[in-house]
Amino acid sequence: MKIMNIVGARPNFIKIAPLIREMRARQGVEPLLVHTGQHYDVKMAGRFFEDLGIPSPDVSLDVGSGSHAFQTAEVMKRIEPVMEQQRPDLVLVVGDVNSTLAAAVTAAKLQIPVAHVEAGLRSFDRSMPEEINRLVTDAVSTYLFVSEESGMKNLAAEGADMARVFFVGNVMIDSLEASRRMWERSSIQEQLGVTKGQYGVLTLHRPSNVDQPAVLRGLLEAIAEIGREQPIVFPVHPRTRKRLEDTQELNALLRFTGSGTVQGPGIWCLDPLGYLDFMALVAGARLILTDSGGIQEETTALGIPCLTLRENTERPVTISHGTNRLVGTSPEKIVEEAMRVLKGPRVAPSPPPLWDGHAAKRIVSIILERCR
Ligand code: UD1
Ligand code: UDP
Repeated sequence: MKIMNIVGARPNFIKIAPLIREMRARQGVEPLLVHTGQHYDVKMAGRFFEDLGIPSPDVSLDVGSGSHAFQTAEVMKRIEPVMEQQRPDLVLVVGDVNSTLAAAVTAAKLQIPVAHVEAGLRSFDRSMPEEINRLVTDAVSTYLFVSEESGMKNLAAEGADMARVFFVGNVMIDSLEASRRMWERSSIQEQLGVTKGQYGVLTLHRPSNVDQPAVLRGLLEAIAEIGREQPIVFPVHPRTRKRLEDTQELNALLRFTGSGTVQGPGIWCLDPLGYLDFMALVAGARLILTDSGGIQEETTALGIPCLTLRENTERPVTISHGTNRLVGTSPEKIVEEAMRVLKGPRVAPSPPPLWDGHAAKRIVSIILERCR
Protein backbone atom coordinates (compact mmCIF):
# COMPACT_ATOMS: atom_id res chain seq x y z
CA MET A 1 0.00 0.00 0.00
CA LYS A 2 1.54 3.28 -1.11
CA ILE A 3 0.92 6.06 1.44
CA MET A 4 1.89 9.63 0.61
CA ASN A 5 2.60 11.55 3.83
CA ILE A 6 2.50 15.35 3.76
CA VAL A 7 4.47 17.72 6.00
CA GLY A 8 5.15 21.44 5.77
CA ALA A 9 5.42 23.22 9.11
CA ARG A 10 7.18 22.65 12.44
CA PRO A 11 4.34 20.83 14.25
CA ASN A 12 3.85 18.53 11.24
CA PHE A 13 7.37 17.12 11.55
CA ILE A 14 6.74 16.10 15.17
CA LYS A 15 3.44 14.41 14.24
CA ILE A 16 4.75 12.54 11.19
CA ALA A 17 7.90 11.10 12.82
CA PRO A 18 6.21 8.22 14.70
CA LEU A 19 3.89 7.48 11.76
CA ILE A 20 6.73 7.15 9.26
CA ARG A 21 8.68 4.99 11.71
CA GLU A 22 5.67 2.71 12.15
CA MET A 23 4.96 2.52 8.41
CA ARG A 24 8.58 1.59 7.69
CA ALA A 25 8.34 -1.23 10.24
CA ARG A 26 5.26 -2.81 8.63
CA GLN A 27 5.27 -5.17 5.70
CA GLY A 28 3.21 -4.12 2.74
CA VAL A 29 3.47 -0.37 3.36
CA GLU A 30 5.41 1.91 1.06
CA PRO A 31 5.58 5.33 2.72
CA LEU A 32 6.46 8.41 0.66
CA LEU A 33 7.24 11.73 2.29
CA VAL A 34 6.40 15.07 0.65
CA HIS A 35 7.69 18.28 2.29
CA THR A 36 5.83 21.33 1.01
CA GLY A 37 8.47 23.77 2.29
CA GLN A 38 5.95 25.95 4.18
CA HIS A 39 8.66 26.15 6.87
CA TYR A 40 12.19 26.17 5.47
CA ASP A 41 14.68 27.70 7.96
CA VAL A 42 16.98 25.04 9.40
CA LYS A 43 15.72 25.97 12.88
CA MET A 44 12.06 25.52 11.85
CA ALA A 45 12.45 22.47 9.61
CA GLY A 46 15.79 20.70 8.95
CA ARG A 47 16.73 20.43 12.62
CA PHE A 48 13.47 18.52 13.29
CA PHE A 49 14.31 15.90 10.67
CA GLU A 50 17.62 15.33 12.49
CA ASP A 51 16.23 15.42 16.04
CA LEU A 52 13.32 13.11 15.24
CA GLY A 53 15.12 10.75 12.81
CA ILE A 54 12.76 11.53 9.94
CA PRO A 55 14.09 10.29 6.56
CA SER A 56 14.82 12.93 3.91
CA PRO A 57 11.71 13.83 1.94
CA ASP A 58 11.11 11.95 -1.31
CA VAL A 59 9.74 15.17 -2.80
CA SER A 60 10.33 18.81 -1.76
CA LEU A 61 7.95 21.41 -3.14
CA ASP A 62 9.78 24.49 -1.80
CA VAL A 63 6.66 26.67 -1.62
CA GLY A 64 8.00 29.03 1.06
CA SER A 65 6.05 31.88 2.65
CA GLY A 66 3.18 33.99 1.35
CA SER A 67 -0.41 34.98 2.01
CA HIS A 68 -2.86 32.21 2.87
CA ALA A 69 -4.25 32.03 -0.67
CA PHE A 70 -0.79 32.16 -2.25
CA GLN A 71 0.69 29.48 -0.01
CA THR A 72 -2.33 27.16 -0.26
CA ALA A 73 -2.52 27.57 -4.03
CA GLU A 74 1.22 27.00 -4.51
CA VAL A 75 1.06 23.74 -2.54
CA MET A 76 -1.96 22.63 -4.59
CA LYS A 77 -0.31 23.51 -7.91
CA ARG A 78 2.93 21.78 -7.05
CA ILE A 79 1.51 18.70 -5.34
CA GLU A 80 -1.11 17.82 -7.96
CA PRO A 81 1.37 16.49 -10.58
CA VAL A 82 3.23 14.58 -7.85
CA MET A 83 0.01 12.88 -6.77
CA GLU A 84 -0.93 12.17 -10.38
CA GLN A 85 2.45 10.65 -11.09
CA GLN A 86 2.72 8.63 -7.87
CA ARG A 87 -0.98 7.63 -7.61
CA PRO A 88 -0.77 6.70 -3.91
CA ASP A 89 -3.45 4.48 -2.33
CA LEU A 90 -3.81 7.01 0.48
CA VAL A 91 -2.69 10.56 1.23
CA LEU A 92 -2.06 11.15 4.93
CA VAL A 93 -2.16 14.70 6.33
CA VAL A 94 -1.57 15.84 9.91
CA GLY A 95 -2.65 18.88 11.93
CA ASP A 96 -4.19 22.10 10.69
CA VAL A 97 -1.69 24.16 8.70
CA ASN A 98 -2.12 25.49 5.16
CA SER A 99 -0.14 22.54 3.75
CA THR A 100 -2.62 20.14 5.41
CA LEU A 101 -5.60 21.81 3.79
CA ALA A 102 -3.96 22.15 0.37
CA ALA A 103 -2.85 18.53 0.15
CA ALA A 104 -6.19 17.19 1.41
CA VAL A 105 -8.25 19.18 -1.09
CA THR A 106 -5.95 18.27 -3.99
CA ALA A 107 -6.05 14.54 -3.17
CA ALA A 108 -9.82 14.54 -2.68
CA LYS A 109 -10.33 16.07 -6.15
CA LEU A 110 -8.07 13.41 -7.66
CA GLN A 111 -10.27 10.86 -5.86
CA ILE A 112 -7.40 9.64 -3.72
CA PRO A 113 -8.59 8.72 -0.20
CA VAL A 114 -7.33 11.10 2.50
CA ALA A 115 -6.53 10.23 6.12
CA HIS A 116 -6.45 13.16 8.56
CA VAL A 117 -4.49 12.69 11.77
CA GLU A 118 -5.63 15.08 14.53
CA ALA A 119 -9.16 15.32 13.14
CA GLY A 120 -12.16 16.80 14.92
CA LEU A 121 -10.45 19.48 17.00
CA ARG A 122 -12.49 22.70 17.03
CA SER A 123 -11.88 26.09 18.63
CA PHE A 124 -15.24 27.33 17.26
CA ASP A 125 -13.39 30.50 16.32
CA ARG A 126 -13.34 31.05 12.57
CA SER A 127 -11.12 34.11 12.87
CA MET A 128 -8.34 31.57 13.47
CA PRO A 129 -6.94 30.39 10.11
CA GLU A 130 -6.34 26.91 11.49
CA GLU A 131 -10.06 26.48 12.29
CA ILE A 132 -10.92 26.92 8.60
CA ASN A 133 -8.17 24.42 7.72
CA ARG A 134 -9.55 21.89 10.23
CA LEU A 135 -13.15 22.19 9.02
CA VAL A 136 -12.27 21.85 5.33
CA THR A 137 -9.71 19.08 5.83
CA ASP A 138 -12.14 17.00 7.90
CA ALA A 139 -14.94 17.58 5.38
CA VAL A 140 -12.88 16.15 2.48
CA SER A 141 -11.09 13.37 4.38
CA THR A 142 -12.14 9.73 4.06
CA TYR A 143 -10.62 8.56 7.36
CA LEU A 144 -10.50 10.68 10.50
CA PHE A 145 -8.04 9.88 13.31
CA VAL A 146 -8.91 11.65 16.54
CA SER A 147 -6.60 12.55 19.44
CA GLU A 148 -9.07 13.44 22.20
CA GLU A 149 -12.72 12.74 23.04
CA SER A 150 -13.90 16.27 22.15
CA GLY A 151 -12.94 15.46 18.55
CA MET A 152 -15.33 12.49 18.48
CA LYS A 153 -18.18 14.67 19.79
CA ASN A 154 -17.45 17.47 17.33
CA LEU A 155 -17.37 15.16 14.32
CA ALA A 156 -20.57 13.39 15.42
CA ALA A 157 -22.27 16.78 15.83
CA GLU A 158 -21.17 17.75 12.31
CA GLY A 159 -22.71 14.58 10.91
CA ALA A 160 -19.48 12.76 10.01
CA ASP A 161 -19.82 9.08 9.09
CA MET A 162 -18.64 7.67 12.42
CA ALA A 163 -17.69 4.33 10.81
CA ARG A 164 -14.69 6.21 9.38
CA VAL A 165 -13.77 8.07 12.57
CA PHE A 166 -11.25 6.44 14.93
CA PHE A 167 -10.23 7.55 18.42
CA VAL A 168 -6.53 6.67 18.46
CA GLY A 169 -4.72 9.04 20.85
CA ASN A 170 -2.08 11.65 20.20
CA VAL A 171 0.95 11.29 17.93
CA MET A 172 2.58 14.38 19.56
CA ILE A 173 2.85 12.28 22.70
CA ASP A 174 4.28 9.37 20.70
CA SER A 175 7.18 11.65 19.70
CA LEU A 176 7.58 12.97 23.23
CA GLU A 177 7.83 9.45 24.66
CA ALA A 178 9.89 7.94 21.83
CA SER A 179 12.57 10.61 22.24
CA ARG A 180 12.38 10.91 26.04
CA ARG A 181 15.74 9.24 26.61
CA MET A 182 17.35 11.62 24.13
CA TRP A 183 15.83 14.84 25.46
CA GLU A 184 16.53 13.80 29.04
CA ARG A 185 20.23 13.93 28.07
CA SER A 186 20.02 17.49 26.69
CA SER A 187 22.21 20.01 28.49
CA ILE A 188 20.09 23.01 27.50
CA GLN A 189 19.71 24.29 31.08
CA GLU A 190 23.49 24.27 31.60
CA GLN A 191 24.03 25.91 28.21
CA LEU A 192 21.57 28.68 29.05
CA GLY A 193 22.63 29.00 32.69
CA VAL A 194 19.14 28.39 34.15
CA THR A 195 18.21 26.13 37.06
CA LYS A 196 15.55 23.43 36.69
CA GLY A 197 12.27 24.52 38.29
CA GLN A 198 13.34 28.16 38.46
CA TYR A 199 12.48 29.58 35.07
CA GLY A 200 9.51 30.02 32.74
CA VAL A 201 9.26 29.41 28.99
CA LEU A 202 7.32 31.64 26.58
CA THR A 203 6.27 30.96 22.97
CA LEU A 204 4.10 33.25 20.87
CA HIS A 205 3.17 33.01 17.20
CA ARG A 206 -0.60 33.30 16.70
CA PRO A 207 -1.38 36.15 14.29
CA SER A 208 -4.07 37.36 16.75
CA ASN A 209 -1.37 37.80 19.41
CA VAL A 210 1.63 39.02 17.47
CA ASP A 211 0.42 40.83 14.35
CA GLN A 212 -1.06 43.86 16.17
CA PRO A 213 1.60 45.81 18.08
CA ALA A 214 -0.85 46.91 20.82
CA VAL A 215 -1.82 43.31 21.64
CA LEU A 216 1.81 42.14 21.55
CA ARG A 217 2.84 45.04 23.79
CA GLY A 218 0.12 44.16 26.37
CA LEU A 219 1.28 40.54 26.44
CA LEU A 220 4.97 41.37 26.73
CA GLU A 221 4.36 43.96 29.46
CA ALA A 222 2.47 41.39 31.55
CA ILE A 223 5.08 38.71 30.96
CA ALA A 224 7.91 41.15 31.77
CA GLU A 225 6.27 41.56 35.17
CA ILE A 226 6.27 37.79 35.68
CA GLY A 227 9.89 37.81 34.49
CA ARG A 228 10.84 39.88 37.54
CA GLU A 229 10.10 36.80 39.70
CA GLN A 230 12.14 34.40 37.58
CA PRO A 231 13.70 34.45 34.12
CA ILE A 232 11.48 33.66 31.15
CA VAL A 233 13.17 31.93 28.21
CA PHE A 234 11.59 32.98 24.91
CA PRO A 235 12.55 31.03 21.73
CA VAL A 236 11.16 33.47 19.16
CA HIS A 237 9.14 32.17 16.18
CA PRO A 238 10.12 33.84 12.85
CA ARG A 239 6.68 35.47 12.48
CA THR A 240 7.13 37.09 15.89
CA ARG A 241 10.79 37.98 15.19
CA LYS A 242 9.58 40.00 12.17
CA ARG A 243 7.01 41.84 14.30
CA LEU A 244 9.67 42.71 16.87
CA GLU A 245 11.91 44.02 14.10
CA ASP A 246 9.01 46.13 12.74
CA THR A 247 8.18 47.63 16.16
CA GLN A 248 11.57 48.33 17.72
CA GLU A 249 10.17 49.94 20.88
CA LEU A 250 8.88 46.53 22.02
CA ASN A 251 12.48 45.42 22.37
CA ALA A 252 12.81 47.54 25.52
CA LEU A 253 10.65 44.87 27.22
CA LEU A 254 13.02 42.09 26.17
CA ARG A 255 16.57 40.96 26.83
CA PHE A 256 18.96 39.52 24.28
CA THR A 257 21.65 37.05 25.18
CA GLY A 258 24.87 37.96 23.40
CA SER A 259 26.85 35.42 25.41
CA GLY A 260 24.19 32.73 24.91
CA THR A 261 23.41 32.63 28.63
CA VAL A 262 20.50 33.96 30.67
CA GLN A 263 21.69 36.37 33.34
CA GLY A 264 19.09 37.47 35.87
CA PRO A 265 15.41 38.33 35.53
CA GLY A 266 13.57 39.33 32.36
CA ILE A 267 12.29 37.84 29.11
CA TRP A 268 15.30 36.34 27.31
CA CYS A 269 14.97 36.04 23.53
CA LEU A 270 16.57 33.10 21.71
CA ASP A 271 16.30 31.61 18.24
CA PRO A 272 13.80 28.74 17.92
CA LEU A 273 15.17 25.63 19.61
CA GLY A 274 15.43 22.11 18.19
CA TYR A 275 12.89 19.58 19.40
CA LEU A 276 15.09 17.73 21.92
CA ASP A 277 16.40 20.88 23.60
CA PHE A 278 12.94 22.41 23.62
CA MET A 279 11.35 19.36 25.27
CA ALA A 280 14.09 19.32 27.90
CA LEU A 281 13.55 23.03 28.52
CA VAL A 282 9.77 22.55 28.90
CA ALA A 283 10.16 19.50 31.16
CA GLY A 284 12.39 21.48 33.55
CA ALA A 285 10.29 24.67 33.60
CA ARG A 286 8.22 26.02 36.50
CA LEU A 287 5.72 27.60 34.15
CA ILE A 288 4.92 27.78 30.44
CA LEU A 289 3.21 30.72 28.75
CA THR A 290 2.16 29.96 25.19
CA ASP A 291 -0.31 30.27 22.35
CA SER A 292 0.89 27.04 20.71
CA GLY A 293 -1.40 24.07 20.13
CA GLY A 294 1.26 21.40 20.57
CA ILE A 295 2.71 22.88 23.74
CA GLN A 296 -0.69 22.72 25.49
CA GLU A 297 -0.53 18.97 24.87
CA GLU A 298 3.11 18.44 25.79
CA THR A 299 2.73 20.30 29.11
CA THR A 300 -0.34 18.18 29.87
CA ALA A 301 1.64 14.99 29.30
CA LEU A 302 4.56 16.27 31.40
CA GLY A 303 2.49 17.85 34.20
CA ILE A 304 4.03 21.30 33.72
CA PRO A 305 1.71 24.26 34.46
CA CYS A 306 0.68 25.96 31.20
CA LEU A 307 -1.04 29.31 30.77
CA THR A 308 -2.50 29.59 27.28
CA LEU A 309 -2.58 33.14 26.01
CA ARG A 310 -5.79 32.66 24.02
CA GLU A 311 -9.54 33.02 24.61
CA ASN A 312 -10.30 29.47 23.42
CA THR A 313 -8.66 26.13 22.77
CA GLU A 314 -9.41 23.34 20.31
CA ARG A 315 -7.78 20.98 22.83
CA PRO A 316 -10.15 21.11 25.84
CA VAL A 317 -8.81 17.87 27.31
CA THR A 318 -5.65 19.79 28.26
CA ILE A 319 -7.84 21.77 30.66
CA SER A 320 -10.13 18.99 31.95
CA HIS A 321 -7.30 16.43 32.41
CA GLY A 322 -4.17 18.48 32.12
CA THR A 323 -2.32 21.44 33.52
CA ASN A 324 -3.56 24.00 31.01
CA ARG A 325 -5.48 27.19 31.80
CA LEU A 326 -6.91 29.65 29.30
CA VAL A 327 -5.89 33.11 30.42
CA GLY A 328 -6.67 35.13 27.29
CA THR A 329 -4.75 38.29 26.57
CA SER A 330 -5.73 40.49 29.52
CA PRO A 331 -2.43 41.55 31.17
CA GLU A 332 -3.99 41.56 34.69
CA LYS A 333 -5.35 38.03 34.31
CA ILE A 334 -2.03 36.73 32.95
CA VAL A 335 -0.03 38.17 35.86
CA GLU A 336 -2.58 37.00 38.45
CA GLU A 337 -2.67 33.41 37.13
CA ALA A 338 1.12 33.24 36.77
CA MET A 339 1.63 34.36 40.37
CA ARG A 340 -0.89 31.75 41.52
CA VAL A 341 1.07 29.03 39.70
CA LEU A 342 4.44 30.24 40.99
CA LYS A 343 3.19 30.22 44.60
CA GLY A 344 1.08 27.05 44.34
CA PRO A 345 2.05 23.37 44.73
CA ARG A 346 3.23 21.29 41.78
CA VAL A 347 0.78 18.74 40.37
CA ALA A 348 1.40 15.22 39.09
CA PRO A 349 0.66 14.60 35.40
CA SER A 350 -2.56 12.72 34.57
CA PRO A 351 -2.44 11.87 30.87
CA PRO A 352 -5.71 11.93 28.90
CA PRO A 353 -7.07 8.64 27.49
CA LEU A 354 -4.80 7.01 24.87
CA TRP A 355 -2.01 9.58 25.21
CA ASP A 356 0.27 6.64 25.84
CA GLY A 357 2.88 6.79 23.08
CA HIS A 358 1.13 4.22 20.85
CA ALA A 359 -1.16 6.33 18.66
CA ALA A 360 0.88 5.80 15.47
CA LYS A 361 0.72 2.00 15.92
CA ARG A 362 -3.06 2.19 16.18
CA ILE A 363 -3.33 4.46 13.15
CA VAL A 364 -1.16 2.29 10.90
CA SER A 365 -2.98 -0.89 12.04
CA ILE A 366 -6.34 0.67 11.21
CA ILE A 367 -5.05 1.88 7.84
CA LEU A 368 -3.86 -1.62 6.97
CA GLU A 369 -7.07 -3.31 8.14
CA ARG A 370 -9.74 -0.81 7.14
CA CYS A 371 -8.48 1.67 4.57
CA ARG A 372 -7.82 -0.54 1.58
C1 UD1 B 1 2.14 28.21 10.65
C2 UD1 B 1 0.72 27.65 10.72
C3 UD1 B 1 0.27 27.58 12.17
C4 UD1 B 1 1.26 26.81 13.01
C5 UD1 B 1 2.66 27.38 12.83
C6 UD1 B 1 3.63 26.50 13.56
C7 UD1 B 1 -0.85 28.15 8.90
C8 UD1 B 1 -2.00 28.98 8.50
N1 UD1 B 1 -0.22 28.51 10.02
O1 UD1 B 1 2.10 29.54 11.14
O2 UD1 B 1 -0.99 26.91 12.24
O3 UD1 B 1 0.86 26.90 14.36
O4 UD1 B 1 2.99 27.40 11.44
O5 UD1 B 1 4.84 27.14 13.81
O6 UD1 B 1 -0.54 27.20 8.23
N2 UD1 B 1 9.05 32.27 8.29
C9 UD1 B 1 10.42 32.26 8.26
N3 UD1 B 1 11.04 31.03 8.15
C10 UD1 B 1 10.37 29.87 8.06
C11 UD1 B 1 8.97 29.91 8.08
C12 UD1 B 1 8.33 31.12 8.19
O7 UD1 B 1 11.07 33.29 8.34
O8 UD1 B 1 11.01 28.79 7.97
C13 UD1 B 1 8.36 33.58 8.45
C14 UD1 B 1 7.93 34.20 7.14
O9 UD1 B 1 8.08 35.57 7.23
C15 UD1 B 1 6.43 33.90 7.11
C16 UD1 B 1 6.05 33.89 8.58
O10 UD1 B 1 7.21 33.39 9.24
O11 UD1 B 1 5.73 34.84 6.36
C17 UD1 B 1 4.87 33.02 8.89
O12 UD1 B 1 5.03 31.71 8.38
P1 UD1 B 1 3.73 30.83 7.95
O13 UD1 B 1 4.12 29.43 7.64
O14 UD1 B 1 2.94 31.55 6.92
O15 UD1 B 1 2.83 30.85 9.23
P2 UD1 B 1 3.22 30.58 10.74
O16 UD1 B 1 2.95 31.80 11.52
O17 UD1 B 1 4.57 29.97 10.80
N1 UDP C 1 8.95 23.64 19.44
C1 UDP C 1 10.32 23.46 19.35
N2 UDP C 1 11.15 24.53 19.48
C2 UDP C 1 10.68 25.78 19.74
C3 UDP C 1 9.27 25.97 19.86
C4 UDP C 1 8.42 24.86 19.68
O1 UDP C 1 10.78 22.34 19.16
O2 UDP C 1 11.48 26.72 19.86
C5 UDP C 1 8.07 22.47 19.22
C6 UDP C 1 7.15 22.12 20.37
O3 UDP C 1 7.27 20.75 20.59
C7 UDP C 1 5.75 22.42 19.85
C8 UDP C 1 5.92 22.25 18.37
O4 UDP C 1 7.25 22.72 18.11
O5 UDP C 1 4.77 21.55 20.33
C9 UDP C 1 4.87 22.94 17.53
O6 UDP C 1 5.18 24.23 17.41
P1 UDP C 1 4.28 25.49 17.21
O7 UDP C 1 3.98 26.05 18.53
O8 UDP C 1 5.08 26.30 16.26
O9 UDP C 1 2.96 25.04 16.43
P2 UDP C 1 1.47 24.69 16.88
O10 UDP C 1 1.49 23.47 17.70
O11 UDP C 1 0.89 25.88 17.58
O12 UDP C 1 0.75 24.50 15.58
